[in-house]
Amino acid sequence: AQTMKETIGKHFLIGAAVSTRNIYSQDPKVKSAIVDNFNAIVAENCMKGEAIHPEENRYSWGDADATVKFAEDNNMVVTGHCLVWHSQAPRWMFKDNDGKTVTREVLIDRLYHHITNVVSRYKGRIKGWDVVNEAFEDDGSYRKTPYYNIIGPEYFELAFKFAHEADPNAELYYNDYSMSKPAKRDAVCRLVRDLKAKGCRIDAVGMQSHNGIDYPNLNDYEASIDSLAACGVKVMMTELDINMLPSPQHFGGADISQRFKYDKTLNPYVNGLTKSAQKLFNERYLAFFNIYAKHKDQISRVTLWGVSDADSWLNGWPVPGRTNYSLLIDRKYKVKPVVKDIIKLFK
Ligand code: G3I
Repeated sequence: AQTMKETIGKHFLIGAAVSTRNIYSQDPKVKSAIVDNFNAIVAENCMKGEAIHPEENRYSWGDADATVKFAEDNNMVVTGHCLVWHSQAPRWMFKDNDGKTVTREVLIDRLYHHITNVVSRYKGRIKGWDVVNEAFEDDGSYRKTPYYNIIGPEYFELAFKFAHEADPNAELYYNDYSMSKPAKRDAVCRLVRDLKAKGCRIDAVGMQSHNGIDYPNLNDYEASIDSLAACGVKVMMTELDINMLPSPQHFGGADISQRFKYDKTLNPYVNGLTKSAQKLFNERYLAFFNIYAKHKDQISRVTLWGVSDADSWLNGWPVPGRTNYSLLIDRKYKVKPVVKDIIKLFK
C-alpha cells in the first residue's frame, strides 16, 4: 500500500513530532512508523530553551543531536522547535544572580547568545526554525511575556535577525495556535508584513492546528490559510492533532482534575472509541486534509503532533490519565484505516 510520504509528500512535507523516547526506542515498530510514513520530523521537547540551555553557560545537546542524526540517517527533513517561547524558556533567562529581573540590554544579549549558539550548532542541517512561538493572545494583542515586557515588541525583529545571521540558509517561521481566530490571524499577518518591511527573512507561518471535533470552524480555518498566504509566506500545519475528549472549558474550569481521571463522561474511551466517535474522527481528519489538498500550493508542510496515540500529549492534558485518540497511528503503531482515504485526496 502507498504511504503518506509517497503520496502527500509529493505536494508538501508530511511530518511528525518525535519525543526522545521515540528516537531512542529499540522497538522496530516505532522506528518504522516514523520513517515509513513521514519525511520530516520535529523535536517535541528537546530543542526548547529549558531543555537545550539549562544554565546560562551550559547547553545540553545530546537529545537534540540524536534527533538531528536520526533524521539524517533516515533521509528526513528536520525542523527546529523553538527559539523564543515564554513557556519552557531557559529558567535563568529573565533573572540575574540576585533574582532581580534583567535589564533590556542583558535580555537582548542573552537572546542573542541563545539563538546564535543553538542555530549555529545545526547550521545547514535544519531546514527551518520556529523562531517565535505563541506570542499573541487570541484577541490579537501581544502576549505579555517576559520578552515583550522587558524588550518590547522589537524582540520579534531581533530574534529573526539573530537566527538569520546564524544560519542564512535556514527558513524562519512564526508559529501559533488558534490561528483561525480572525483577530489573531490578522495580528500575525501584520507581524509578517512588518518583519518583511524591516528586511527580516520569514518563510512561513505555522498554524499549530490542535483541533477538536467541534473547533475550529472550517471556514475560518480555510480563510486563515488564504490570508496568511496573501502576506507572501507559506503556511504550515505544524502541530496537527484532533482532541477526541471533552475539553475542560465545557465543565466550568472548577477543580476538575480528579473528575477528569475517574468520571467516565470526561474520559469516555478508555477501551476504544465508540463507533460514532470513530466515524467523527475519520470525518474530521478527512475534512482537514481536504482543505490541505485544496490549498496544497500554499502549504509547505503538515506535521502531526506526535507519532502514535500512545505518544500524544493529549493523554496528559489538562490532567494525566486520559485516553485520547488524536493521531493517525494507533497505540500499536499501526496506521489507521482513514489514512487510505486521506491519501486518495492527493491522487
Ligand atoms: O522531562 C520531564 C521528565 O524528566 C519528568 O519525569 C516528567 C514528569 O512530568 O516531565 C517531563 O517533562 C515534561 C515534558 O513534556 C517531556 O515529557 C513536562 O512536564 C511537560 O510539561 C512537557 O509537555 C510538553 C508541552 O509542550 C510543554 O512544553 C508536551 O510534551 C509537548 O507536546 C507540548 O508541545 C506544545 C508545543 O511545544 C507548542 N504548542 C503547544 C504544544 C502542546 O502543548
